[in-house]
Amino acid sequence: MRKKLILDLDTGIDDALAIAYALGSADEIDLIGITATYGNVAVPLAARNALAVLHLFGRDDVPVYPGVDYPIAPATLPTMRGTTPDERAQAYARWQNGGAGGWQTDAPWSPTPGSVAVHHPNGIGGAIIPDSPRAPEASGSAVDFIITAAHEYGPDLTIVPTGAMTTMATVFRNAPDLKDSGVNVTLMGGALTLPGNVSPAAEANISQDPEAADYLFKCGARTTMIGLDVTHQTALTREKAHEWASLGTPAGDFIVTMTDYYIDFYLKNQPEIRGCGLHDPLAVAAALDPSLVTTFGFNLQVDLEGPFRGRTIGDRSRLQDFDKHTQVALGVDVSEFLDRFMARVTAAARG
Ligand code: BDR
Ligand code: CA
Repeated sequence: MRKKLILDLDTGIDDALAIAYALGSADEIDLIGITATYGNVAVPLAARNALAVLHLFGRDDVPVYPGVDYPIAPATLPTMRGTTPDERAQAYARWQNGGAGGWQTDAPWSPTPGSVAVHHPNGIGGAIIPDSPRAPEASGSAVDFIITAAHEYGPDLTIVPTGAMTTMATVFRNAPDLKDSGVNVTLMGGALTLPGNVSPAAEANISQDPEAADYLFKCGARTTMIGLDVTHQTALTREKAHEWASLGTPAGDFIVTMTDYYIDFYLKNQPEIRGCGLHDPLAVAAALDPSLVTTFGFNLQVDLEGPFRGRTIGDRSRLQDFDKHTQVALGVDVSEFLDRFMARVTAAARG
């Protein structure tokens, strides 16, 4: 039986590439659903983009479930409440006790100007692709979908979260038995040896909801962290990206347009990467084949206050624990990954 895969995406340019990688790996893995989180875009647009990308790639059989659409203890946007440390701590405690967290405004969550600049207001680099004829599943259904799948498939299920971790944290809060189920969570987020990409300390996905990521690292679940330590080593150059133009398919053209926008952003803001970071596809690749990365076992926490809010760092209170819950990727076989990335995305985009 092929193993099962769920992608939890804030679709997003590299999230869309992660979908393509997963679809191009259909011999190995069965993509049973996509759940929509927020980050690069809000949940409704993440769901819309995931459905549209699936439609473009001819996979109208994969359902898309909207997830939790706001953070546990928001601290950055002016419209958000709960902005003092005390209020944030209370919101986190309330949420851990089964409450709804700290979102106390009628305004829907919206992405930061930084996220909009990286991914374009439409999330997919300004590329125009048709809406899917399908609608997303019921609002907020992602948590229950993941819990049901995890109970059914246990160690045969892999989940790859690549946006705000709120839905994933809620899964383990609502179904604590899952931490012993063998379900594999390989997340894109964090940085252990490098500065962050939204602040000197914080990586984007962790910064969207630091409390959710902190909970995920501490709740007893087994996680693998694919952070900037490795994703910034795997860059897609413009020359490589333009190879898809020769396919002459709508999916190939879409990837070229989208990655052109992403590469422009990177060349302007992080020229040392010499292309765009392949964050989310690397997480999918490592989830399918952990031998692509070398990891360091550690118990992590997320800093929740001060200038380091959003930093992934060792949890001193669990330093002496023999059992390490997170495998942090620190090395990556760059050329093998890039070869697979090109081959699998090409297979998916060929049509
Ligand atoms: C992560 O943040 C998002 O912008 C990307 O989609 C990726 O998941 C990189 O820090
Ligand atoms: Ca993402």
